[in-house]
Formats: sequence, structure tokens, C-alpha cells
Amino acid sequence: MKKKFLGKAVLSSMMVLMGATSAMALTGQEKLGQMLYFDKYLSLNHNQSCASCHHPAAGWADPLNAAMPDVYPVSLGSDRNLNGCRNAPPSGYAAFTPLFDNQMLAGGQFWDGRADTLKDQAKGPFLNPVEMGMPDEAAVIAAIADRNNPKSRAYQTFFRQVYGVNLSKIDYTNNALILDLYDKVAEAIGSFEQTKRLTSFTSKYDYYLAGMTTLSDQEMAGLALFEGKGGCNACHPSAAQVNTDATITPPLFTDFTYDNLGVPKSSNVLLTDCPTDLGLGGRINDPAQDGKFKVSSLRNVEMSAPYAHNGYFATLADIVHFYNTREDGTWPGPEVAANVNYNELGNLGLTVQEEADLVAFLQTLTDGFEDKMPRNFVPPSITPLP
Ligand code: HEC
Ligand code: HEC
Repeated sequence: MKKKFLGKAVLSSMMVLMGATSAMALTGQEKLGQMLYFDKYLSLNHNQSCASCHHPAAGWADPLNAAMPDVYPVSLGSDRNLNGCRNAPPSGYAAFTPLFDNQMLAGGQFWDGRADTLKDQAKGPFLNPVEMGMPDEAAVIAAIADRNNPKSRAYQTFFRQVYGVNLSKIDYTNNALILDLYDKVAEAIGSFEQTKRLTSFTSKYDYYLAGMTTLSDQEMAGLALFEGKGGCNACHPSAAQVNTDATITPPLFTDFTYDNLGVPKSSNVLLTDCPTDLGLGGRINDPAQDGKFKVSSLRNVEMSAPYAHNGYFATLADIVHFYNTREDGTWPGPEVAANVNYNELGNLGLTVQEEADLVAFLQTLTDGFEDKMPRNFVPPSITPLP
């Protein structure tokens, strides 16, 4: 059985977040972060921003991947001839991921948990050759200050207001200064990722938990399977926590632990040169963790195809079918044979109808349900979501 890892870390990050974002309007730092997050000018060919791979229209993952998951299971870089070996996970709700815990082997940003915070994480993509491809930190700061960057005037204002920095007077030979500014850039992006924009908790399921709407018969059947015969909630917890002050902590659909599902190696041409991905085991150099990847949050999952760390599954129906039938001999063997979880999945005995029910339930986790509420809908007076 799995160890439970849902405790304080999540709750406290939740509290921090609720405090920080209780007002809907963004702070100066969050606005700056938003501008940086969506700025394509900050990449090698001025053609890629964080949002290119983590866009709201794709549940904060890569819209190109979501539109053509079979052709593009992974993102292309600013240099369109380059790509990484892993599927871009949503940046939405990543704000709730606790720091990596060396004892529990849980938490951390990335599929293998190698970055601690959103701020640490945000320093990577700019300089990654298969992502935004900038040569160094100074180049990123220079692109922000560059008069040819359409946003440079707004950046001048924000950097002065938020950090007291004059962007037009940067000494690029002062390495400590450059690293400090780069740190501020990452901090601002991280603060934006913590806002309600990326963590709105407005899915149909959230409204259902708050007693403000009902699920269809098929969605209810899917929920029952998710928490019952499918056993999904053992790793993707689906229950809300009712706090002592009567507020609800909505479920995040991940316990932040790591598991090897036995996902096959991708045969997509973009991934042919990729070495075997050992996941957590490769990062911490521990064979007992080989093949294990962080349990994904399932929020907005309908929007963020393809699925799993290598994008092996193009649709939700595919991955649910895999969970159900992994052992039936129709699937290629696992990419990493060690440590495959044979206890909790692989032969669930679900019917075709039940697989479809599970998918219908997963589709209730998409944010923005309030827009679909009938105009004359009067919500019952039950605790609103944070
Ligand atoms: C070219 C596509 C691409 C770009 C551009 C990109 N990312 Fe990512 N992002 C990825 C991939 C791929 C991963 C997973 C990599 C891994 O796990 O090794 C990832 C992981 C993440 C995660 C971790 C999520 C989790 O649940 O573990 C966050 C947060 C994130 N990116 C935010 C950002 C930010 C902020 C930027 C801009 C500074 C950015 N990304 C730019 C592709 C991209
Ligand atoms: C033993 C833990 C465990 C159980 C049980 C489990 N999952 Fe997962 N799930 C994971 C892990 C770990 C990943 C990421 C694996 C990877 O990419 O290699 C994942 C990934 C997923 C993804 C892909 C998310 C994405 O964005 O790529 C979906 C969808 C999913 N699970 C749905 C389900 C459903 C539905 C069930 C029940 C039938 C279920 N899971 C049961 C651990 C589990």
C-alpha cells in the first residue's frame, strides 16, 4: 500500500496562497510576472514564452501538443528543430506542490521533482537549449530591457515600482547584479503562477462539492468508479477537506508521490533519440525509484493532452484503457521494467461503459464552469470555495 502524503505541506501552502491572492486584482509583482510569463521576446528567436508550452487554452499545458497529440507528444523549442523528451505538465495548480521531501520521496516541481519552488523552476526554461534557448542570464535581462521589446516600457515601470531597479542603467559586467535581477524575474513569474488565474478551483466538480450543481448520472458513475473499482483516488485524492473554520480545501487530485505505471516507451519520431527515462530514480541515483514519475494533478486534464511523462497516450480514453488493460498482452512492455506498480492498477476489470464513465468524470475537472451556469441559476447558500 502507498504511504499517505497529503498533510501539512499542502495545507500550509494553501493557506499562504489564500492569503496572497484573496483579492482578485493582481499586485504589481504578479502583473510583472504575468507579462514575463506571456512574453515571447524572451526566447532565442523571440517566438516562445512560458505560455507557449503552458497556455490557459490547453489547461496550462502546450496547445500544439493538445491539438495534435499523436504528432507532437512533446513541445518544440524556440529553435524549432529541437525538442525535449518529456511532455509539458500543466503549470496550473503547480503552486500547491510541496517542496520535495527526501524522507517521503514526494513533492517537488517537474516530473522528477528536481526543482523546489516555482521560483527555482522558472529559472530553468529560459536557458534550456530545447526550450527558450537563451545563452545566459544576462541575455534574458537584456531582452527585457531591449527597446525593441514591445513591452520594454512597461517593464521599465514595473521594475522601478516593484523592485526599485532602473532597467535602462544595468551594468552587464556585474554578474552578481545580473543574477539578482534574474532571481527577481523568476520570483515575479512564480508569484503570477500562484494567482487565481492558474488556480481558480472553478471546475464543475468544485461546484458539485460545494453543493452548487449536480453531476450527470454518467459523471456520478465515473466518480464512484474513480473512488471505488478504479482505485484512482489512492494516488489522485478526490475528496475535499472540510477545515475547522468551515472552509473547504478542494482536492488537488495528486498526493505528490512517485510511481512507475509501466508506461511504454514512445515510438514517436520526436523521441527516438531519447535515452530510457529513469524519472525520480535517475535524478536521485536510486535504482529503487527507477521509472517513477510524480503523480499528476488531474485538474484541467481534459484540456492538456497528451498524457503521461512521455506523452504516450493521445487521449483520456487511451490512458484509462491502459490502466484497465495493461496486463492483457495488447500493450508493449514498460519503458522501465523495475518497480512497476502491479498492486493498484493494470487489470481493473472495467467494462467499456465504465471506462467511458471514468472519462466523463475526468471531464468535470475543467476550470471555468461558472461560465456555463444558467443565467438564472441561484446557488444554494453553502460555503463558497476559497
Ligand atoms: C518548450 C516548452 C516549455 C517552455 C517554453 C516552458 N516549459 Fe515549463 N515545462 C516544460 C516541460 C517539458 C516540463 C517538464 C520537464 C521535466 O519534468 O523534466 C515543464 C515543467 C514545468 C513546471 C513543473 C510542473 C509540475 O507539475 O511539475 C512548471 C511550473 C513550468 N514548467 C513552468 C514554466 C515557466 C514559468 C516557464 C517560462 C519561464 C516555462 N515553464 C517554459 C515545457 C516548457
Ligand atoms: C498507484 C498510483 C496511481 C493510481 C492508482 C492511479 N494513478 Fe493516474 N497517475 C499516476 C502517476 C504516477 C502518473 C504519472 C505517470 C507517468 O507519467 O509516468 C499518473 C498519471 C495519470 C494521468 C495523466 C495525467 C497527465 O497530465 O499526463 C491520468 C489521466 C490519470 N493518471 C488518471 C488516473 C485514473 C483515471 C486512475 C484510476 C483508473 C488512476 N490515474 C490511478 C499514479 C496513479
